[in-house]
Amino acid sequence: MTTTVQHESTPASADIQKAALNLPAITAEVHRAIVQLDPDHPGFRDQEYRARRNAIAKIALDYQPGSPIPDAPYTAQEHRLWRVVREALEPKHQQYACAEYLECLRRLDLPRDHIPQMREVTAKIEAISGFRLEPVAGLVEPHIFLESLANGVFLSTQYIRHHSAPFYTPEPDVVHEVIGHAVFLASERMAELNRLVGEAVRRNTSAPALERLARVYWFTIEFGVLREDGAVKAYGTGLVSSAGELEAMHEAELRPLDLEAASRQAFDPTRYQPILFCADSFEAMYQTLRDYLVRWR
Ligand SMILES: [Fe+2]
Repeated sequence: MTTTVQHESTPASADIQKAALNLPAITAEVHRAIVQLDPDHPGFRDQEYRARRNAIAKIALDYQPGSPIPDAPYTAQEHRLWRVVREALEPKHQQYACAEYLECLRRLDLPRDHIPQMREVTAKIEAISGFRLEPVAGLVEPHIFLESLANGVFLSTQYIRHHSAPFYTPEPDVVHEVIGHAVFLASERMAELNRLVGEAVRRNTSAPALERLARVYWFTIEFGVLREDGAVKAYGTGLVSSAGELEAMHEAELRPLDLEAASRQAFDPTRYQPILFCADSFEAMYQTLRDYLVRWR
């Protein structure tokens, strides 16, 4: 994973970027992947941070799927970092996030002053959509990440970004996973779309098909926008988990939601997205993506 541009973003949808860019996968075993930090990572030279990150990643290494998720021993500094990010996001959500997301945020009622444990978040979303989070130590192979969605499992990192760059992370972290993905898994319809992505991957595991599907995932579930009451609102998890992305989305070129076009559209996960696909409404996005995924062969 390389990151050359530092911005208030979550190219953190890095959980999918390897698939979309067709880069070599990092590891084979689902819960046993530790990503080596890139020299551009804000915490690269911070030995204490790296030790913390590895300690939290080790929870995933030791995790047995289906067993209770162990709590991550976050420090006071890490909890403060969560609060800083949430406080920056809160007004942006009210302005720029779609109604479905805001409703899910209300349902989950995430804590403001501390990082919620994956166990607690999972209990809430499982009761609503049946989805659960399971810990991973880092990036996993794209087809494993996507296929797990068919089983109602969202593979999720637990560590948090480096405190020197509260609004930036070059990799998925607990902020992106929880405030982006987990919140939306409290939507029955978004959970269904995530499951359908996993089922689509199962039906065609060829590399070109996976690459096209990963782009569709990127331009919808990660970076999708839609119109609501005459305004452009975000539903993409990479947008709603980043205050910077939520501001920058107004600079993007908006194209009508055409999933065939999206499946062919290249993207760069290391910068603000210059092109976004915009649905006419949440309902239109749901129907279009659902139909596309169901027909996927
Ligand atoms: Fe993501």
